[in-house]
Amino acid sequence: MTKKEAQQEITSLRKLIRRHDERYYVYSDPEISDYEYDQLLKSLSQLEAKYPDLITPDSPTQRVAGRPADEFLRYQHRRQMLSLDNTYSYEDLREWHQRVLKGAGVGNVDYVAELKIDGLSISAIYENGLLTKGVTRGDGVFGEDVTQNVRTIRSLPLSIIKDQPAAAVRGNDEIVENETKAAHEIEVRGEVEVRGEAFLPSDVFVRINEDRAEQGLPLFANPRNAASGTMKSLDSKVVARRKLDCFCYELFFDGKKKTNTHWETLDWLGSAGFKVNPHRRLCRSIEDVIEFCAEWESKRDGLAYETDGVVIKVNSIALQAELGATSKAPRWAVAYKYPARQATTLLRDITVQVGRIGTLTPVAELEPVLLAGTTVSRASLHNEDQIKRLGVRIGDYVLIEKSGEIIPQVVRVIESRREGRESELRDFVMPTHCPVCGEEVRRLPGEVAWRCVNATCRSKLEGGLRLFASRTAMRIEGLGEALIEQLIVAQPKKDKRGEVVLQDTRPLLLPPLVQDFADLYRLKDRRDELINLERMGPKSADNLLAQIEESRNRDLLHLIYGLGIRHVGERTAQILAGAFESIDELMNASAEQLAGVFEIGEVIAASIADWFGELRNRELIERLKAAGLNTRRQFQHRETTGRTLDGKQFVLTGKLSTLSREDAKVMIEARGGRVTSSVTKKTDYIAAGDDPGSKLDRARELGINILNEDELMELLARK
Ligand code: IVH
Repeated sequence: MTKKEAQQEITSLRKLIRRHDERYYVYSDPEISDYEYDQLLKSLSQLEAKYPDLITPDSPTQRVAGRPADEFLRYQHRRQMLSLDNTYSYEDLREWHQRVLKGAGVGNVDYVAELKIDGLSISAIYENGLLTKGVTRGDGVFGEDVTQNVRTIRSLPLSIIKDQPAAAVRGNDEIVENETKAAHEIEVRGEVEVRGEAFLPSDVFVRINEDRAEQGLPLFANPRNAASGTMKSLDSKVVARRKLDCFCYELFFDGKKKTNTHWETLDWLGSAGFKVNPHRRLCRSIEDVIEFCAEWESKRDGLAYETDGVVIKVNSIALQAELGATSKAPRWAVAYKYPARQATTLLRDITVQVGRIGTLTPVAELEPVLLAGTTVSRASLHNEDQIKRLGVRIGDYVLIEKSGEIIPQVVRVIESRREGRESELRDFVMPTHCPVCGEEVRRLPGEVAWRCVNATCRSKLEGGLRLFASRTAMRIEGLGEALIEQLIVAQPKKDKRGEVVLQDTRPLLLPPLVQDFADLYRLKDRRDELINLERMGPKSADNLLAQIEESRNRDLLHLIYGLGIRHVGERTAQILAGAFESIDELMNASAEQLAGVFEIGEVIAASIADWFGELRNRELIERLKAAGLNTRRQFQHRETTGRTLDGKQFVLTGKLSTLSREDAKVMIEARGGRVTSSVTKKTDYIAAGDDPGSKLDRARELGINILNEDELMELLARK
C-alpha cells in the first residue's frame, strides 16, 4: 500500500468509525456488531502505527491518552458556568413563571422543558472545529482542565465536521433523520463551546459500586457522585472503561449565543453530531410545562440514566438576555426537582449472600414498603464496613432510597425511632464461615470484603455456570438455573425402576454431576443420571447434550468471557480475543504484556494474570482443552478480511475439530476462495481433518497441497 492509499484508507475508516460511534453512542442504534466495530478500530490503529505522521488529534484512536495526568490545571471559563435555582412544587413553578412574565414585561413566554440529568456539567471547547479542551464547572468561574477524560466520552465528537451527514434529534420525544441542512450551515471556525451534562448510565453506576464494595472502597452515593469521581480520575484509561456519556444543551460561538431560540440550539447540536436528550418539549404555557414534569415523574423509571427533575428554560434567546442572571443562577431558567424516592421501614434482619466470585455481601431484609411504584423488601448493605459506617443494627428503622433502576440502598438509621426499643436491637456479626459451603472465609490483603476462597463452593459454581452457559458466553440454552442447581449437588442413586437406592437407612448419594465447567462436556458419559433428574427425560437430556456438544466450537472470545474472570466483561473479552490467538497465549501472557494491549488497563491486566496464575484455573483450562473445546480464535471480520484466497479452490474432508466444516467454508469464502466437493486438477488445497477417506488419496495422486487443520487455520489467519 502506498502512503497515499493508506491516507485514503485511514480517512475512510475514520469516517466509518465516526458514523458508527454516532449510531451507537448518540442514537443507541448500532448498525454493526461490537466485534465488527472493534475490527474497524483495529485496522485503523494498525495503519496509523505504520504511518504515525498521518495520526490526527481527532482520530478515534486518540480518545484515550497514553499516560495518566499528574494533576489537573485550573481553567478560567470564558463565560461563567451558572447553576440553577430549584423548585419543588408546581406552585413554586407557577410563581417563577409570574416572575419571568414580570421581568420580561410580556404576557406570555414559550419554554423548553427538558430532563435534568443527574451528572456533572462540563464544557467542551472546539477551536476551528477540533476539540481542544474539556473543563469541569468547578465553582463556575474556574474549572478543572479534564480534557483527557472528556475525550473518552464516545458520544462527544472529537471534531465538528461541517458537511457531516448527521441525523438530528428533533425533540418532542422522537428521533427523525434530518435533512442535514443545518449541519451544512454550521460555521465552526473560531471557538465553539458546547456545554452539557456528563453522566454515567445507571447500570454502569451499579457495576462501579459493586466493584467498589468488593474492593472495600467507600460507595458512591448516587450516579452524580460517581460521574464526578470518574471525571476527576487522573488516569483516562480508567475513565474510558467507565463509559461516561454526555447530553449537550448549551452552545456559544466565540462566547456568544448565536441562535434565536434555545430550541434551535438543541437542533444545531443534534445535527452537528452531539448527543441531545430526545425527551424535551416546546411548551406554550407553564401548564404545558407542568404536564411534562408530571409525565416524566413516572416515566423516568424506564430510562437507562438518572434524572432528578426537569429544567425549564425560556426559549427566546433575546428574552433570556433581557432577564439576565443573579451571581449564581440565570433568571430565565429553573429546575423542578422530583421528590427523592425514599421511604422508612424496619430492618428485620441482615442476611449474607455469596456472590459469583465468593464475596460475602450483607443484605438488609426489610419490612416490605412501597417505593417508586414497587414493593421493596431487600436492600444491599454492600460490606461490613458499610454497616459500620451507617451504624445500623438489626431492628432499626432505616431510610431507604432508590435511584432509577438501581437496587435500593440503606441511606441512614432513623435514630429517633430507637427510643424505648433498645432491647429489640441486635448487632450484626459477619459469619466466619461461608454460609453456602461452610469453609472459613477470608479477608484478603487490601480488601474490605470477606470472601469464600473455596473454588468448589457451590455458590460460585452456580453463578459461574450460569455465566458460562449464557448467550454471550458459550450459549448452552437448555442449561437454565433450575437445572444448574440440580447438577451441582449430590443426587441420590436410583435403580432401574427409579427407586432411590439406600445404604443402611440413608439414600446413597452420587457425586454431583458437575463440579466445574469441564464436567459439562463429560455429561454425555453420565446420561442415565442426567435423565433421572427432576423435569428431565431422555429427550430433554439428549437436547441438552447436543447443545453442550455444539458449544465446543464457540469462538475464543465467548470462552474468555464465559470463564467469569473478574473485570473481564464482554467487550474486554473481545479485545483479548483480538489480541491473542488462543487461550494458551492469553494464559501465558504476563500482566505487563496484558497491560500493553490497547484499552486494557492495569487493574484488568492484573486480574487476568491472577486468574491464570491460579493452579486450579490452569487445570480447568487443560480439562476444557482435553474435552475438545475450541480454544483458538476463529473468526475474522468480513470487511477487514482481505481477499487472501482469491480464486483458490478448496476441498474439505474428514472431521475438523476446532471449527465445523460450515464455518470453515464461510471463512474460506470470505477470503475469496471457493469450496467444492470433489477433488480435481483445479483443486488448490485439500484440508483434511480426522478420518479423511478417499478424497485425500485422490489429492495425493494429483499432487495437491494437503493441509491439516492447523495449517488451514494459519492460511485463514494470513493477512
Ligand atoms: S442548564 C445556565 N440543562 O443541573 C444553565 N442544566 O442544578 C445551566 N443539569 O449545573 C444549566 N441537566 O449541571 C441545564 N438539561 C439541563 C441539565 C442541567 C442537568 C445540571 C447542570 C446544572 C445543574 C443545576
